[in-house]
Amino acid sequence: MIVVDSAADVRDAVRAARERGVRIALVPTMGALHAGHRSLLDAARQRCDFVVATIFVNPTQFGPGEDFSTYPRPIEADLDVCRAAGVDLVFRPAAETVYPSGFATFVEVAGLSDVLEGAFRPGHFRGVATIVLKLLNVVQPDALFVGQKDYQQQLLLRRMCADLDLPVEVVACPTVRDPDGLALSSRNVRLAPDDRWTALALSATLREVRARLLAGETDVAAVRREMRARLEAAPSVRVDYATVADADTLAELDSPRLRMAALVAARVGGVRLIDNLPIDLSVIPAQAGIQPAVRAAAGCPPAQA
Ligand code: PAF
Repeated sequence: MIVVDSAADVRDAVRAARERGVRIALVPTMGALHAGHRSLLDAARQRCDFVVATIFVNPTQFGPGEDFSTYPRPIEADLDVCRAAGVDLVFRPAAETVYPSGFATFVEVAGLSDVLEGAFRPGHFRGVATIVLKLLNVVQPDALFVGQKDYQQQLLLRRMCADLDLPVEVVACPTVRDPDGLALSSRNVRLAPDDRWTALALSATLREVRARLLAGETDVAAVRREMRARLEAAPSVRVDYATVADADTLAELDSPRLRMAALVAARVGGVRLIDNLPIDLSVIPAQAGIQPAVRAAAGCPPAQA
């Protein structure tokens, strides 16, 4: 595994790989790698021949008062994870080379940047889109691997790649969870034991919401209200948002759509966590008993007798 900190070295290594005619993957990360990142690296390894992982805690996606300075940076352990996953090249640039003095160009993905995470973290997605576009420009991969855990981020990166005609496939990999349901996050290590237990309310609430909608609930506005109330009832939880939205536009819903997502962001004992579950009514077989009203509201064809 090659470890480099300059864009020129990345370009040289990728050019040499490309001359061999291989398929190149990019897995951008901020380090503090866990099994969720490992699943992205594994997917990249399976689908591509030359895997580039980047480790960079990107300052422009953290707002004032967020946890940029305390974000975990266990670089040696991260390199071990990359090595074990069969990564070919790790790019870990210094902030001064990514954002040299005079840096003035940022990428805005309108609309998707402003809702949910964007509403609570102004400027966050501008920083994400800018760094990912820069990494895509340096590596020029065939495929970009991102996690479904950051649901809004993967939608926004897809939009950016489509809008800017980037010839890259965006592959979103499923969220990896602890056996009790907690979505893996680099921030979980900062949860006190009681708070970790409390944090299970997030995934449990999402599962309930999904079960209700799959069972035929049509009053999505009521589901959203109850989802928030259930989370707020948990001790030491402060909800930023808890909602059901259109899976592609993230518009909040009052009635079902074929493809939805339940999404939540909350502070648990001071640690901000996000989680989501996609809800796809189109995969429900007609014989599953989903009410005709739901099928009609969500635009499904009528159930076959
Ligand atoms: O998901 C993350 O870890 C970051 O937002 C990303 C995509 C690596 C950009 O810094």
